[in-house]
Amino acid sequence: MTDPAPDPAALRQSYARGRLDEAGVAATWLEQLQRWFDEAVADPAITEPNAIQLATADRSGHAAVRTVLAKGIDPRGVVFYTNYESAKARDLDATGWASAVFVWLPHERQVRLSGPVERVERAETEAYFATRPRESQIGAWASPQSQVVASRAELDDAVTALEERFADGPIPPPPHWGGYLLRPAAVEFWQGRSGRLHDRLRFRADGSEWVRERLAP
Ligand SMILES: Cc1cc2nc3c(=O)[nH]c(=O)nc-3n(C[C@H](O)[C@H](O)[C@H](O)COP(=O)(O)O)c2cc1C
Repeated sequence: MTDPAPDPAALRQSYARGRLDEAGVAATWLEQLQRWFDEAVADPAITEPNAIQLATADRSGHAAVRTVLAKGIDPRGVVFYTNYESAKARDLDATGWASAVFVWLPHERQVRLSGPVERVERAETEAYFATRPRESQIGAWASPQSQVVASRAELDDAVTALEERFADGPIPPPPHWGGYLLRPAAVEFWQGRSGRLHDRLRFRADGSEWVRERLAP
């Protein structure tokens, strides 16, 4: 007899690793994000510490979410790279808005960001693309991301053809591939606490100022 499937309702974790209060939080969202990100990177228990779940919506308000990798965290916001003809790119170009979340479960933390999104300058995409492994550069050319493909073989054949085309020469970024910058209008830091009374501190843009406020968990 096989074991019954685990009951998700029976899974219960108490959060007690830390706290986040007004006295301890950094002065800016960027410093606080960098602080937590540094701690996530330093912890071998956390794989892909730069993974974010990126939520978009189309013009009808239909939402979609997927994981991408943050490749820049700086005063402007968070940069990620993708195919400009993908489903997410269509949403981003239509609405100019996204929401993203870093989740570092071993630290009982999440950071949510939302705000306007724009394509980065081509030079920024080119500089980043040049740092990618050659295999990933070919992959960006080979994959018509989000489209239906007939088979795995179709993708493998595209890779073979591209390897011949580029031979040993440099590979530029495909025109349909590049970065987006999410400029946060709000950034919320969540630290799990006991009894589900978690800490939530949010930095919210208010004109040219940033307001910091505590939210109920
Ligand atoms: C850990 C992880 C990292 C990923 N990183 C990226 C990324 O940086 N860029 C990207 O376009 N897709 C990335 N993907 C794939 C996306 O989740 C998604 O499948 C793809 O972008 C197509 O999404 P779309 O059809 O909604 O546009 C990643 C997936 C995982 C699980």
